[in-house]
Amino acid sequence: MNSIFSNKIWLAPLAGYTDSVYRKICKSFGADVVMSEMISADALIYNNPKTKILAEFDEEERPIGLQIFGNDAYKISEGIKILKEYHPDFIDINMGCPMKKIIKNESGAALLKDKNKIKEIVKLSYKTINDKLPLTIKIRAGWSSDKNLFEIVKIIESEGASAIIFHPRTRNEMFFGKSNWDLITKVKENSGIPIIGNGDITTPEDAKEMFEKTKCDSIMVGRGAIGNPWIFKQIKNYLQNNSYSEIISPNRIQMIIVHFEKIKKRVGSRKAIHIIRKFIASYTKGMKGASNLRQKCNQTKDEKQFIEYLFNFQP
Ligand SMILES: Cc1cc2nc3c(=O)[nH]c(=O)nc-3n(C[C@H](O)[C@H](O)[C@H](O)COP(=O)(O)O)c2cc1C
Repeated sequence: MNSIFSNKIWLAPLAGYTDSVYRKICKSFGADVVMSEMISADALIYNNPKTKILAEFDEEERPIGLQIFGNDAYKISEGIKILKEYHPDFIDINMGCPMKKIIKNESGAALLKDKNKIKEIVKLSYKTINDKLPLTIKIRAGWSSDKNLFEIVKIIESEGASAIIFHPRTRNEMFFGKSNWDLITKVKENSGIPIIGNGDITTPEDAKEMFEKTKCDSIMVGRGAIGNPWIFKQIKNYLQNNSYSEIISPNRIQMIIVHFEKIKKRVGSRKAIHIIRKFIASYTKGMKGASNLRQKCNQTKDEKQFIEYLFNFQP
């Protein structure tokens, strides 16, 4: 089995969060495989420079997958041709995004309504990749129910995909409730290709439970890794030794500053403040006085002041 699919801890694609900077931070804490956020096939074809930036990565991020989304087999395969020029380690097709702006164009999770289209997309994408790279498909359990799930899995498998990344919620469930891990178990039992289990892993205990309960080949952590890159190390320690250390508050605050400096190097201070703000709530989750800190950081556009608030913060 291809080694990236077996017994690995993946960082999920999270649009707006998992840029090159954060992927590298997560890798430094033990994430085995990372992915770009979803990249529009249409925008790639139109040569949109902002879109192309999403496909860029550094060598140290490998193994990395580039994820594409679209609503048409031909356009997706043309997009894949462009993504191939970046030499990723694999290509993934998004068939799970539930957001309105994506599904209104019949992309993302909307594809789960149309088995024939899924077949067409996987078939042509596989042909385009020409067996040179693994092709993965990231799916949800279905549109409004899981009634077609097993048929969809079979189609994806028989048209040449190397693995399936599976988040067991339907589109209509969005992010509500708990994801149904029993479906991961069933998909794993019924498929011959690796299954990467995803959904609601927020602690090392969850990670172990997903491996044990579902027998999936690898696991993927999404929201649980936002402002919490340590989770990858904790999961690995827990899987190996049944124990892991908690991260203390000063280290969390220091990480915000390190993360900020890394973003700043790439995009400048103003934009970096804007980006890091999204992470502060998660980095400081559960700390006393954190909401006051967040408020202050949200109000200032001045870098010196921003750093001062963080330095002076005493949880
Ligand atoms: C803010 C945000 C952005 C996301 N962006 C993407 C994306 O670009 N591509 C994708 O396949 N899934 C995306 N997802 C879904 C996640 O990859 C993952 O499947 C989902 O969050 C469930 O995993 P979790 O419970 O570990 O977060 C996103 C989710 C969130 C919350």
